[in-house]
Amino acid sequence: MTESLPRGAEIAVIGAAGKTGAAVVAALEGLADVRRVVHTARRSGDHAVDLVTGAGLTEALSGCRGVYFIAPNVHPDEPALLRNTLDAAASVGVEHVVYHSVAWPYTPLMPHHVDKARCEDELRTLGGGLRWTVLQPCAYAENFGAVLDGSLTTVELPYSPDATFSFVRLADVAEVAARVLSEGPDIHHGATYELGGPEALSVRDLCDRDGSPVSVKQVSVDEWMSRHGRDLTDDGRARLAAMFDFYDRFGFLAGNALFESLLGRPPAPAT
Ligand SMILES: NC(=O)c1ccc[n+]([C@@H]2O[C@H](COP(=O)([O-])OP(=O)(O)OC[C@H]3O[C@@H](n4cnc5c(N)ncnc54)[C@H](OP(=O)(O)O)[C@@H]3O)[C@@H](O)[C@H]2O)c1
Repeated sequence: MTESLPRGAEIAVIGAAGKTGAAVVAALEGLADVRRVVHTARRSGDHAVDLVTGAGLTEALSGCRGVYFIAPNVHPDEPALLRNTLDAAASVGVEHVVYHSVAWPYTPLMPHHVDKARCEDELRTLGGGLRWTVLQPCAYAENFGAVLDGSLTTVELPYSPDATFSFVRLADVAEVAARVLSEGPDIHHGATYELGGPEALSVRDLCDRDGSPVSVKQVSVDEWMSRHGRDLTDDGRARLAAMFDFYDRFGFLAGNALFESLLGRPPAPAT
């Protein structure tokens, strides 16, 4: 049973407008007052910040008891963004920072994972009064949302369709985030929770589920980038290419025992 925070103890969700952030904000509803911390303000009450320069962070976090930190995808320097956030959080007396990492963070073949390992190290070696928790989700099933809801008939994949993943449902990850933030650092300080889904599945398995007619086609990384990576920087493309190569060779798995314990039920299947 998740306890609600005392009234007025706000939780700041950094990255609130993104895919992960929106799920975490929704999961916190009824458990805590939420402050949406975004890059581009879209709604009244949004706190706009720039994680790169740190602009707006101190104001955005002031009065908050907890912070959920979600970095933009494949950023060239995620540790610097977290450092800016930790400086601001410490300066305004935030008690608890929960960091949205990834399963298998120390994977030298995937530079954006290694950056998350560095972020975890920043938290563990921080000192001072700020307490922390790390969540390490595996790949989201929602990355293949258009396959799951049948709105795609063919999916192009820049790695083997038979590589296996412990796909997680984003709503389950968000439910754990909300629990950890609500219960706070007295229970969760110093903990690192790996969050893997209930079974190892390939993208071909996702496409074949329930007899859905989605066909999967493996394409080269260059071909995929030419169609889907046009808005990325060179650095972002290189990081994603390294990830695709890793997936192709090793897949991406994670355990689910902790996940089940934190949810109080088994994590939902990917399909
Ligand atoms: N996809 C997966 O399977 C998976 C699995 C595990 C972990 N993750 C991690 O989850 C994280 C979030 O992924 P996502 O797909 O939810 O990302 P997303 O939808 O792209 O959201 C990222 C948010 O970052 C904000 N942002 C960008 N630049 C910023 C800046 N300079 N200052 C402040 N905010 C900035 C954007 O805010 P605005 O919208 O306001 O511009 C955006 O909403 C990533 O770090 C990823 O590595 C993903």
